[in-house]
Amino acid sequence: MPRPRSNSNPAYANRSSVGKTSKKSRPKGDYRARQPAREYELDVLPGLEEVAATELAGVPLARDVRGLRFWYPGSPERLTRLRSAVAVYRIKSWDVPRPRGLLGHQQLGELVSYVREVTEVGGHRSFRIGAAGKESPTMQRLAEELSAALGLPHDPEEGELLLRLRPSADRQGADGQGWDVLARITPRPLSARAWRECNMGGGLNATIAYAMHKLAGQRDEDRIFNPMSGSGTLLIERALLGPYAALVGVDIDPVAVACARTNLRAAGKEVEVAQVDALHTGLPSRSFDLVISDLPWGDAIGSHQSNETLYPAFLKEMHRLTSRRGRLCLLTHELRLFERVMREQSDWEAKELFQVYSGGHHPKAYLLHKRG
Ligand SMILES: C[S@@+](CC[C@H](N)C(=O)[O-])C[C@H]1O[C@@H](n2cnc3c(N)ncnc32)[C@H](O)[C@@H]1O
Repeated sequence: MPRPRSNSNPAYANRSSVGKTSKKSRPKGDYRARQPAREYELDVLPGLEEVAATELAGVPLARDVRGLRFWYPGSPERLTRLRSAVAVYRIKSWDVPRPRGLLGHQQLGELVSYVREVTEVGGHRSFRIGAAGKESPTMQRLAEELSAALGLPHDPEEGELLLRLRPSADRQGADGQGWDVLARITPRPLSARAWRECNMGGGLNATIAYAMHKLAGQRDEDRIFNPMSGSGTLLIERALLGPYAALVGVDIDPVAVACARTNLRAAGKEVEVAQVDALHTGLPSRSFDLVISDLPWGDAIGSHQSNETLYPAFLKEMHRLTSRRGRLCLLTHELRLFERVMREQSDWEAKELFQVYSGGHHPKAYLLHKRG
């Protein structure tokens, strides 16, 4: 079993120079270079809105923020680095009563320039329309017109540029009418991380992993343990966030360990992952300040029956491995079991962090502290 190792990643070596780029040496397209402001909207998993709003608050120059909608005068590249959003969309509204109004001469011209601006930056190679009634003659015609004007193939299933049409929330215009067109600024969702070369059943949406780390607290001095690391999502999202004292993952399944190593390599992060039973690591007591884990939910991974014994044993062993003021951050879909086990033990105090809706599931994240 590997001992917790210090983070020696060279990516952190030059931290002191971050933010010190002189005006002269700023690259073209630097997000600080002002451009006309454009309106954007973040798409986030239901339940993670607050985490996304907090991340958005850290984007310099973002203004007129209403929920997850905002104006931004910088390069969209800065927005593609948001880690809590599934996707970022440009958004523009048209004063038309129905989508058919977008086919008018003036509206279509505006729509084409708007979409062209997005594809020129994002490099999308095809597009698709996401809207109620997307097979209707109006939508077909819109797709044909856009394809011809932009020289971009319309691929209804896999199109890289996702255009979403929806009635405007604020229903502009004299008759209280209007339609929004949202254009996803990246060819793939932001949640489909570039580092994910290996996928596994039960792999966690990376935006949830990001949210867990942010709410569990990010401290440079943390020794972090990620038992049941699966494909490595929690490990990689933490490694990408910045310094820590140590970061170690284990999984009982050799296929998962190989998968996590592949993804860590793709992310350019050196993190130890071992094939070890999380309940029998052989590590000394109080080895970690933060234990963070996405437990088996009993459907795709493990079974409800095995979780009956796994969950209490896990809580007990993590109590031993955690420092006196340590934290245990857990995600599970076994809500009734977890809450029953929590009532039956007296070692941990738990606080619910969020409940998120993802892929037909609605797991909860909890943060536990040692009692007393
Ligand atoms: C829900 S999955 C984790 C998925 C992971 N968050 C990801 O993004 O891929 C749970 C993992 O726990 C592992 N596991 C189950 N029992 C274990 C044990 N006793 N010790 C270590 N790992 C275990 C499984 O092999 C599985 O990879």
